[in-house]
Amino acid sequence: MAYKFPLALFADPSVISGHAQQLADLLNIPLISDPRGYQVFFNLTPNHLELIAHEENNKKPSSLRVDFTTPGNLRRVKNPHKELLIQAIKIRKKIPATVVDATGGLGRDAFLLAAAGCKVDVFEQNHFIGALLADGLKRAALAPQTARVCNRITLHIQNTVEHIGELCPPPEVVYLDPMFPERDKSAKVKQNLRILRYIEGDQGEDRELFAAVWAIKPRKIVVKRPLKSAPLCEIRPTYTLKGKAVRFDVYIPASFTKDSTPCLNSKC
Ligand SMILES: C[S@@+](CC[C@H](N)C(=O)[O-])C[C@H]1O[C@@H](n2cnc3c(N)ncnc32)[C@H](O)[C@@H]1O
Repeated sequence: MAYKFPLALFADPSVISGHAQQLADLLNIPLISDPRGYQVFFNLTPNHLELIAHEENNKKPSSLRVDFTTPGNLRRVKNPHKELLIQAIKIRKKIPATVVDATGGLGRDAFLLAAAGCKVDVFEQNHFIGALLADGLKRAALAPQTARVCNRITLHIQNTVEHIGELCPPPEVVYLDPMFPERDKSAKVKQNLRILRYIEGDQGEDRELFAAVWAIKPRKIVVKRPLKSAPLCEIRPTYTLKGKAVRFDVYIPASFTKDSTPCLNSKC
């Protein structure tokens, strides 16, 4: 993948050096003893992994880490059944037992799905984002208020297109949120999205992703879209649930006849 900035891992001296080197090797970036001169770098402390970015207009560096124990996240997942995403994944008004979050990102939605009671397999193709998410999940598994939810989540730092077919049995529902729309106006979320752009890399083809998901024949595919954008790959959903800033397009593959099943291979 192509990244816009040279990245490195700086480890607090109190971190066991073998652990830091292992992570640097996994991320394929150098382990450095002095972060000066790096505009963007990972900082590993005994407590967490974070991404630090020195940005032109900010005196203070910005930082990004995954923390499921914040009051904001705990509030969001306290009553998951009110959330539109949870309404969208229900099958005959029931929460499905198994869901794949095929575009994991920083895991906000995966955590909500798990809080609603689903067993969630999360795929994230970008190993930098995957490392931040793995770190957040590891800490959440140790915190009493998030441990139970966290135990329902399995992270795969892999490309969904290549690996979703290996899940046995296949999930009942697959959830897709392939883009980073500016969906939340809060300063913190905006800052997180901005910093993420430093490590985002190439996104891959929506069509390929949609085709791989369709191929495993889930009972439902739910796609998050910005409110006014076209449906993913221009394929009309079975129905849509609209919120204030986003909508969820719901596809029920069994409701498509042989003639109306979308052709998703690259030649169509
Ligand atoms: C908009 S973010 C998802 C945000 C997520 N819903 C959340 O709550 O944090 C999209 C993510 O999907 C990942 N992604 C895109 N295509 C993928 C693929 N084929 N396999 C795995 N991950 C993919 C991107 O790397 C990116 O991190």
